[in-house]
Amino acid sequence: MQLIHSPASPFVRKVRVTLAETNQTGDVDLVRVQTTALSTADEAAAANPLGKIPALVRPDGPAIYDSRVICRYFVARAGADLYPEDRLWDVLTLEATADGILESAVSMVYEKRLRPAEIVFDDWLEAQWGKVAGALDALDDRWMSHLHGPLDMGQIGVGCALGYLDFRHGDRDWRQGRDNLASWYETFGVRDSMVATAPSD
Ligand code: BEZ
Repeated sequence: MQLIHSPASPFVRKVRVTLAETNQTGDVDLVRVQTTALSTADEAAAANPLGKIPALVRPDGPAIYDSRVICRYFVARAGADLYPEDRLWDVLTLEATADGILESAVSMVYEKRLRPAEIVFDDWLEAQWGKVAGALDALDDRWMSHLHGPLDMGQIGVGCALGYLDFRHGDRDWRQGRDNLASWYETFGVRDSMVATAPSD
């Protein structure tokens, strides 16, 4: 199987952490591409009509995408319990919260990197950060007991989201005023799966 990927993508990282946590890393070849919102790599376009990564090319079926689908595929393939039935709606909501943080955080990077400097929309950047900050506050206020429970896909999503904030938005100091979440990430961020998938340009 081939994972169409970029080592900087936090959505790819979710998949790679899931592979590591379910002992499937060796089953996947990483195919590195350069792709942005403005230019799509051929391999990404071939595997996903949206041209986005991650996409997974499988020998025994059509390619699948996006990160949530690929993670769920690998969890099912391993028979792992990362979407436990008795907490399913919480896990999926936590996963969606993490993905929402990532969508806003990535869109801020694109705004600054791809838009000509003279028309970067600062109000829009702040509105995106407002969404990130609101979600982080909710994690710190209401989700800590879940985060401290058995490993699941929601936790993996949150770990990758916080890792991406450190990687691309370190100046925003997401830890400030969120001691619970910061302390949780101190432990989660040094899991072998997280260390092995640390982002790079
Ligand atoms: C990044 O460089 O931050 C990035 C790369 C690929 C997908 C999303 C983000």
